[in-house]
Amino acid sequence: MSENASIKLNDRNLEFPVIVGSEGEKAIDLRTLRSDSGGCITFDEGYGNTGSCVSNVTFIDGDAGILRYRGYPIEQLAQHSSFVETAYLVIHGELPTVEQYAAFSARLREQAGIHERMLHLFEGYPRDAHPMAILSAMVNSLACYDPHLATNDHNRDLENFEEASAIALSKVRTIAAVAYRMSRGLPVNYSNKDLKYCENFLHMMFSDPFSPYTASPEVARAMNLILLLHADHEQNCSTSTVRMVASSGANLFASTSAGISALWGPLHGGANVAVIGMLRSIHEQGDDGSRFIEAAKSGKARLMGFGHRVYKNFDPRAKIIAQGCEELLDSLGLTDPLLDIARRLAEAALDDPYFLERKLYPNVDFYSGIMMRAIGIPLNMFTVMFAIGRMPGWIANWHEVAADQNSRIYRPRQIYQGPVKREYVSIKERT
Ligand code: CMC
Repeated sequence: MSENASIKLNDRNLEFPVIVGSEGEKAIDLRTLRSDSGGCITFDEGYGNTGSCVSNVTFIDGDAGILRYRGYPIEQLAQHSSFVETAYLVIHGELPTVEQYAAFSARLREQAGIHERMLHLFEGYPRDAHPMAILSAMVNSLACYDPHLATNDHNRDLENFEEASAIALSKVRTIAAVAYRMSRGLPVNYSNKDLKYCENFLHMMFSDPFSPYTASPEVARAMNLILLLHADHEQNCSTSTVRMVASSGANLFASTSAGISALWGPLHGGANVAVIGMLRSIHEQGDDGSRFIEAAKSGKARLMGFGHRVYKNFDPRAKIIAQGCEELLDSLGLTDPLLDIARRLAEAALDDPYFLERKLYPNVDFYSGIMMRAIGIPLNMFTVMFAIGRMPGWIANWHEVAADQNSRIYRPRQIYQGPVKREYVSIKERT
């Protein structure tokens, strides 16, 4: 039986239908609120209670610590799948058959290189340019090299979706590797068609003339895990940005480029960099973590890599990555003092009423940086890795917006609390 919700506004009763998701989650459908109420809107700063869309990509139950891509639990994908297979799932909705997987991989391989003229663009950046700025600019620039795939007419862009999405997913890692090589003054490595996605990325990052880099199976597995765990996360800040930009009719490259910019901030993808900065400073100060926890509790610091808008029990990605981190370090025979500090911080925080009451638990970023350090990824590339991993989710969400024939431009409203009407005063008369 369908449910209704009613809102009493002064002495008027307004009725609204309730939408139910496939996992039983509910939303009051307020699309007619403004017209029915004579101008009243909802106010939900930060959108904590707002469903901005209907989506079929990812399901999260934050209270139960559940994350599923297209219905598949993240734990199963992390154990059995690869980043490319998961990317196919996220983008296309189903796990690929052998033939579909082969065709998808072939498209990614074909698209790995970047236009020679585009390579010159990188030369204009200063050595210390941030790779997130370069990544965002270059992904947007992809539209210039294949304008027929980026017409800003969703129906036409959808006809070429397979090619455009393969370009975005494949070239994002090539751009990342080129940005890294150029920042170090190192020669750029061309893609090697014989290598798989992650191995090829690591080759483009770390091979040197006369000294090819070959990723060990453990490192390749770790890289797959990091990217796969980031592949989608429903309506987070960057994905909502992608959908917002897409809703204006913008092409895939422009929309995902905006997602990269949104990801950069320390409260989102930039948290993986901030976590390492925090752990390093705790280490350098000889703190065992307890002083930092006190600072976080008094509001003087924020425990980076902790807390999540949606997860209020645990972040399932953090559990998986914490274990992956231990396994990688063991297999490489490495120790990292930052991992010890992270473990101590997590134990202390998980025993502390401040964190328990606020339901603050380690999130995916708490451990991912330690894993990336072990692989040799430099700190300023951590958020770039997140962006490469998130590309399938951005692509899938762009596709949902573009393919929805009833989609409207995203255009929230506001409550204005600025000055009321006043008359212009000439500059000479202003005091
Ligand atoms: N350390 C200490 N206190 C915290 C933290 C933290 N990391 N996060 C939240 N709180 C406190 C906050 O001060 C507030 O306390 P009070 O009720 O006394 O005012 C309460 O917990 C609620 O916090 P909030 O800021 O209202 O929560 P939010 O849902 O707006 O923010 C968050 C979520 C992830 C931005 C936040 O927890 C945070 O800043 N965490 C650190 C940054 C981080 O790790 N970000 C990565 C998120 S996971 C990757 C991704 O998907 O982007």
